[in-house]
Amino acid sequence: MLAKRNPQLNQHGELIHLLSTEGLPKSILTHVLDTAKNFVSVNDREVKKVPLLRGKSVFNLFFENSTRTRTTFEIAGTRLSADVINLDIARSSTAKGESLLDTIANLSAMAADIFVVRHSESGAPYLIAQHVQPHIHVINAGDGRHAHPTQGLLDMFTIRHYKGDFTQLKVAIVGDVLHSRVARSDIHALTTLGCPEVRVVGPKTLVPEDFSKMGVRVFHDLQEGIKDCDVVIALRLQNERMSGALLPSSHEYFNAFGLTQETLSYAKRDAIVMHPGPINRGVEIDSQVVDGAQSVILPQVTFGIAVRMAVMSIVAGNEGGA
Ligand code: CP
Repeated sequence: MLAKRNPQLNQHGELIHLLSTEGLPKSILTHVLDTAKNFVSVNDREVKKVPLLRGKSVFNLFFENSTRTRTTFEIAGTRLSADVINLDIARSSTAKGESLLDTIANLSAMAADIFVVRHSESGAPYLIAQHVQPHIHVINAGDGRHAHPTQGLLDMFTIRHYKGDFTQLKVAIVGDVLHSRVARSDIHALTTLGCPEVRVVGPKTLVPEDFSKMGVRVFHDLQEGIKDCDVVIALRLQNERMSGALLPSSHEYFNAFGLTQETLSYAKRDAIVMHPGPINRGVEIDSQVVDGAQSVILPQVTFGIAVRMAVMSIVAGNEGGA
């Protein structure tokens, strides 16, 4: 029987769509991080532009709310000199019943080159990738609870920036892991990049034992879970994806799993604190930690521009010479 081909790769093993960090080889993950490193300096130039995607059209299709991902994709596309079109979904013909694939067909008829797609339905970017013409590339900007690969990659970029090598690190992902596409993308990327110990930490309702099948250690006690870790990634409670009451109250949740200066002291002294945002201060993380010396939450956002420039230029096959 023929092995199923990864839909993100062409027959030469090159990245043509970015749909998930799952199943991507280490060489591709590393190539994205290395390419992004070259783009960081573009963001520091007086003229923050390179011509790599000049003449290309990037369509941002955000069927779900976003601040960081949508804006940094727009900035990244603009810095690559692409034309960036942000479809206003609320005012689009989606509201009149047009199907996702009909919308894509119509935008393709406007000579789209890259679709950046966020959708509440897991798998929506895969569906689009299956239906677009071969010269069009699809980048998943977050689908349901399934995957958020550019967030995963910018998290890897941030970890590598501050900690260097992955092969000595203990990383704890704390909070609502069950509903988190970021957690899944981080776990796949961390394990592929050789991180020897990835932990997931939270209440049993939000961190089921099943996660151990992904090769991570499961903890239901915050102090034990972050003990001696080099990296602590906090996640918000994703109430929009929860059905039924999974928690007593946000106050009790904060008492048991909120990241505070006191609980953070169980991690290594030089541990970095990350969060994909949006942050809910006083629910999953205390303000003192968000604004504290160990927080790299805002650098994550800045690195997101370079990482998204790297992903767009790589899928389009135009990554040379930043
Ligand atoms: N991290 C993240 O996906 O944030 P946004 O929802 O604001 O894009």
